[in-house]
Amino acid sequence: MTFVRTISFRDQKPGTSGLRRKVSEFQTPHFLQNFVQSIFDCLHNKYGQTLVLGGDGRFFNETALQVIIKMCQANGFGKLIVGQNGLLSTPAASHLIRLYKAYGGIILSASHNAGGQDGDFGIKYNVSNGGPAPEIFNRLVYQRTKTIQYYQISDFEDIDLSNIGEINTGTMRICIIDPVYDYTLLMQSLIDFDLVRKIIKDGFTFSFDAMHAVTGPYAKEIFINLLGVDESFILNSNPSPNFGGGHPDPNRVYSKILYDSAITSDGPDLFTASDGDGDRNVIVGKDCFVTASDSLAVLAANAHLVPGYRSGINAVARSMATSRAVDQVMSFQGRRVFETPTGWKFFVNLLEAGEISLCGEESAGTGSKHLREKDGIWAILMWLNILAVRKQSVKEVMQDHWRIFGRNYYTRHDFEEVDTESACRLMVSLKQRLSSLQKKETIISRINIADEFSYRDPIEQSVIHNEGIRLIFEDGSRIMFRLSGTRTVGETLRIYMERYVGPDGNHSSDILDVIFDLVTFSYDIAQIEYFTGRTSPSLIA
Ligand code: G1P
Ligand code: ZN
Repeated sequence: MTFVRTISFRDQKPGTSGLRRKVSEFQTPHFLQNFVQSIFDCLHNKYGQTLVLGGDGRFFNETALQVIIKMCQANGFGKLIVGQNGLLSTPAASHLIRLYKAYGGIILSASHNAGGQDGDFGIKYNVSNGGPAPEIFNRLVYQRTKTIQYYQISDFEDIDLSNIGEINTGTMRICIIDPVYDYTLLMQSLIDFDLVRKIIKDGFTFSFDAMHAVTGPYAKEIFINLLGVDESFILNSNPSPNFGGGHPDPNRVYSKILYDSAITSDGPDLFTASDGDGDRNVIVGKDCFVTASDSLAVLAANAHLVPGYRSGINAVARSMATSRAVDQVMSFQGRRVFETPTGWKFFVNLLEAGEISLCGEESAGTGSKHLREKDGIWAILMWLNILAVRKQSVKEVMQDHWRIFGRNYYTRHDFEEVDTESACRLMVSLKQRLSSLQKKETIISRINIADEFSYRDPIEQSVIHNEGIRLIFEDGSRIMFRLSGTRTVGETLRIYMERYVGPDGNHSSDILDVIFDLVTFSYDIAQIEYFTGRTSPSLIA
């Protein structure tokens, strides 16, 4: 074992999803090692403990894993559970940590960000409950990255991660496991595989785009081998370090061709996709795109049709930015909705305390009590199970849903790569005007609340402030502004807009028709053009 003298890096602050930077930055000598050692330095009683390791297979995945394995040995860990070929989806890693009662896990991923040599890389530490490390731990790690002087690393040959089996390196055992097996068993314990297999056999067409990312092996086993989906419907299922030259974000920009073809009446009955590390999901029916906010509401309303959720959902959590569609369902059922800041860790506390059994974010993330991350393939299986029981198309399910609960028309406008100073000036200027906006009459209706969202964690009792600016109108419409915590270049300003129309209200198939006044009002009030020089967003989600 060697102690290597190093310099500290002042820009290793982990964000909502760990440390995410350009690959080139991670390749800077000692950069990765400093961060990993800083994590290890903040862990107590780690000697002899077990860690789960794996990543989404992007460029630098295996190089980083080899370094981390050697550092684990030097830091006294007793056992590593590593996905074959270094692969583990984020939800599978969360499940393995829980299943094997590991001390924690390291997930290598930059989620839906571009990969390849010029793309992004990321590293995230998850704790023993399987969820992302709490904010307080991330802060400690960040402090450590600024003062660290040495890291510890062992000197042995790179480990062959391509074969399942066990390898001993002195005091540490490395178990290379099938990344898919345990996760698949978990899915089988929750979802009615027989029923889904039957509708597929009877001609229900289902398609999944793995985007050359980590879900490929999971999709082959679950959708093709176990559910009988024809392999021609499982797209881009071989993981590649640069995601086949694509961008592993199944949004309307990067998956446009698929969206356009899926949304016609000639598309499959259910078209789905996941992102780089397999925690996000996209649901598209024939001629019917389902927003993640609506998807959460549909799952809440129909979960009792799925074996793992027969007794229903006790309560739900959604992020502040997520539409209130699920609130309509839960108020119908007389159950509670928790409104949290953006980021999965707030859900984890509620799940751990048994306060909720379902949670989701507008950004294509849905999850449940079954593990402590969002889970793309699970959400898709839930939809398959629900469609199989209801014997309806996606569009019919949505129409029935809106007929009962009303519809929350919702959109998000992103302004990417805005320079930091302009973005901050925009937010500060808006904050300074909040009190004058309170109770103001506008073209929409009177503003009832103009404030910065804050959250008291009901479990930790800690209070989180400044989690985005929100304007809530008398008619129930909402506009929210926040800066992204996962951007890598400049700032990303996100504007979320929502209007509720009850079951008997005036509905339209064109979302913009319904929320146009919210869009113009939000651009105007935040002085988007003045501060950013932009008149249109980089992305409408
Ligand atoms: C984004 C999403 C957020 C999600 C996070 C990690 O964060 O908006 O819902 O939890 O990625 O996947 P943001 O960039 O908005 O901070
Ligand atoms: Zn992801």
